[in-house]
Amino acid sequence: MFSSQGPSLRELAVQALSSVERGYDLLAPKFDHTPFRTPDGVLDATADALRPLGPFGRGLDVCCGTGAGMRTLAAVCQGRIAGVDFSSGMLAQAREAHPDAELVRADVRDLSFGAEFDLAVTFGALGHLLPSERPAVFAGVHRALRPGGLFAFPIGGPPPVTSVLYWALLGFDAVMRVRNAVWRPPFVMYYRTCPLGAVRDDLATAGFDVTTVPLTALGRRPDGAPRFRLVLARKPA
Ligand SMILES: C[S@@+](CC[C@H](N)C(=O)[O-])C[C@H]1O[C@@H](n2cnc3c(N)ncnc32)[C@H](O)[C@@H]1O
Repeated sequence: MFSSQGPSLRELAVQALSSVERGYDLLAPKFDHTPFRTPDGVLDATADALRPLGPFGRGLDVCCGTGAGMRTLAAVCQGRIAGVDFSSGMLAQAREAHPDAELVRADVRDLSFGAEFDLAVTFGALGHLLPSERPAVFAGVHRALRPGGLFAFPIGGPPPVTSVLYWALLGFDAVMRVRNAVWRPPFVMYYRTCPLGAVRDDLATAGFDVTTVPLTALGRRPDGAPRFRLVLARKPA
């Protein structure tokens, strides 16, 4: 499935019936050959939008997986970069890709970093958090940043109800809800639980000043709206 180097349908099914942590442990060696790894275009557009706001000192990739977002951090940070994830399999891959980085195994719902980073990013992971879990994650990232530090991540605009994507995401989330109602352990991954408005409110509650900029390099929808915006959540200086 996906490519000859990617996981087979059977492997994906086994992973989907596991917990999030175990599922990613199993997927890790083939993760970079799946569409779940954030594409380089998104990473580069994020780096381009962050560059004028930097340079930054130390950077942290939250839910780093195999280390895709650390490519963005490396482009804009002058200090040592770090990644945090709870899957030891994903961290092992990240360690190969970024041997000089600090890699920490932890659950991002309970981060214990002090104020040591100037920039934090996250890619492709918010859907793994229930809305009720976001405040604790954002509070942990807030604590991890120095005063004046920035938490940045791209977020897709809602697809129009007339689009195939709208119905595909709705269908995916419905299947996951059924799966999680009948099977343990749960695999939390929902596409429609982190709209910009709710995420913005949770960031503000955690103490961030929040703005967004369009990532125009990633295209516009037929109605002219940007497909992606970059959320810029600043910890007050
Ligand atoms: C879709 S992958 C994204 C990986 C990478 N950021 C990227 O964009 O390619 C999601 C990652 O989030 C991690 N993750 C999910 N929930 C987590 C949690 N509560 N604590 C730590 N890591 C978590 C998973 O282990 C996985 O590596």
